[in-house]
Formats: sequence, structure tokens, C-alpha cells
Amino acid sequence: MHARRALLYMPGDDWKKITKALTLGVDSICMDMEDGAAANRKAEARATIARALQELNFGASEKLARINGVGSGLEADDLSAVLPHRPDGIVLPKAETPEQVAWVSEKIEAAELKYGWPVNAIRLILVVESAKGLLNLRELAAHPRLDALIFGAEDFAASVGATRTPEALEVLYARSALVTAAAAYGLQAIDLVTVDFRSPELAHRDALFGAQLGYTGKQVIHPSQVGPVQDAFTPDAEAIAYAKRVVETFEMHQARGAGAYDLDGKMIDLPLLKSAQNLLERARAAGKA
Ligand code: COA
Ligand code: MG
Repeated sequence: MHARRALLYMPGDDWKKITKALTLGVDSICMDMEDGAAANRKAEARATIARALQELNFGASEKLARINGVGSGLEADDLSAVLPHRPDGIVLPKAETPEQVAWVSEKIEAAELKYGWPVNAIRLILVVESAKGLLNLRELAAHPRLDALIFGAEDFAASVGATRTPEALEVLYARSALVTAAAAYGLQAIDLVTVDFRSPELAHRDALFGAQLGYTGKQVIHPSQVGPVQDAFTPDAEAIAYAKRVVETFEMHQARGAGAYDLDGKMIDLPLLKSAQNLLERARAAGKA
């Protein structure tokens, strides 16, 4: 699965921002036809994304296109504009029902068959950002084309009548529920947007908390957020060294018949071993350890 520590959006009609994104070493580039593209610029966004997919070299960055929600009336044209140019994945916003997911997946599969690409080669990522979407997480997350779920905090807050605050306590339940569903189905969980893009420290702080909750990546909206967010999702040398010690000492104690033991005054047992292994896996995905 492609590591998605930072998933950068830009309006799909903005050629300059798309080309800028190629210079940032960002994990995923998501060209937006939904809310980032003005209502009177949807056709321009479709054409610009189609051109970018054909002409630009995205290097190691994943190339994603976000369509408008199913039921918007725009979704079919969005898909027909970008699918022939083989994006790595489609991002579906306002995902609420398994029927919507099945509809998009069928359109993608039709393109895969038409062009002779492997079925499921084009991934599908859902943005869950409404009360109904949250309640249906279990059914939504089960689709085999998915490899990530995204949490949309602004739309979710609007959907339940919550007021967004920088601390984000008002969305904590939903934010954790999404991580839980993602973990249950082996999917990545991509965290909320920090809208205050002039303070990269805020994005870093939010990303660290998201990582504590179990998120593996975060949506970003400005180049200044990319580095701090990637950093927050990349374990540091000290954490890697400690995790390696946990793995080594665990094996040693298991061999001696001890399930729980003392490491520097802290109890280590199986769940802590799993956390250490998770951390090492993230480190490897980021090219460290
Ligand atoms: N992707 C790529 N490049 C971006 C970018 C983005 N999301 N946001 C800004 N840039 C570029 C600018 O083009 C500018 O490039 P330059 O230095 O080569 O001229 C540079 O980064 C600095 O940008 P800045 O002037 O600080 O921001 P701005 O006023 O141009 O744009 C926003 C501010 C919020 C409009 C812009 O960041 C943006 O469009 N973000 C994404 C919005 C979006 O897609 N929302 C929907 C999903 S939530
Ligand atoms: Mg949204």
C-alpha cells in the first residue's frame, strides 16, 4: 500500500498548484473537482486534471483525483474525464452508503476492463464526513477496492451541528470511530485538515495527535504543511531504537517463559510488542529502520 503521510489537495483547475505539488516530495497529490473547484470551474477542473495525468511526471507522488459526491449530478462526468488517463486512485467525498461506493467502483472497473488494466488497480478512497457516513462506517469500509478512509472534520461538524475548535474535542468521537473502522478492515486512516495553513506548527501538533489516535496520515492544503506533517508521521530515531529493543527483549523473555517483563521500569507485554511492531512498520514505509 502506498504510504500516505501527507495527502495534498489543490483545486483541479489550478495548473500552477498542480505543477508546484510535483516539487514538494509529497506522498499523495489530490487534484480536486469537489469543493476546492468553484461551481463555475468544474469543466475546467476536469480538463486540467486530465491534462495533468497525461502530461506530467508525478515521480514517487501518488496521483489522485477527487470527484464530486454521488448525487451531486457532477460525479459521472468527473469520472469520465479522469478515468481514461489512469489516476492511481479516486477520492469520493461525502461517502454515506455502500450503494454509492459500489456505483463508483463499477465505473472504475468498467474503465479498467475497457483499457485492459488489472481490476482494482485504481484504488478508491472514501471521505467520511457526515453523521450518516459515520453510522455506516462498517458497511463502507468493507469494500475491496478501498485502501484508505479520510476523516472530513469541517463537513462532519456541519452535519451534526457542532462548532469546530482548534482542539477538535467536538469531533473526537467521529475521528476515533473512523480510525477504528479503518483498523478493523486493514485500511489506512487519513486525518482532518488543519485549515490554519499560515502556522505549520499547528499542522505538526494536530498531526502528532492524529498519529497518537492511530492515524497514518493527514490531509494538507498548503505546501508549508507537507514537511511538518510527514515529520509527525515518521518515527524518530529514538522511538525506532526503543521499538527495536522491545522486539528483541520480548523474544528473549518469551523464550524464557515470561509473557510480561520489566524494561526500564515499564511493563512490556504483547500489546506493547504490537505497538512497537507497528511503529517499525511505519518507519520502514517512510524509508527509515
Ligand atoms: N498545492 C500546491 N501548491 C500550492 C498550494 C496547494 N494546495 N497552495 C499554495 N500553493 C503554492 C502557491 O501557488 C504558491 O506558489 P509560488 O510560490 O510558486 O507562487 C505557494 O504555494 C505559496 O502559496 P500562498 O501564496 O501562501 O497561498 P495562496 O494564497 O496561493 O493559496 C489557498 C492559499 C488556501 C487558496 C491554497 O493553499 C489552496 O488552494 N489550498 C487547497 C485548497 C483545496 O484544494 N481545498 C479543497 C480540499 S480541503
Ligand atoms: Mg469536504
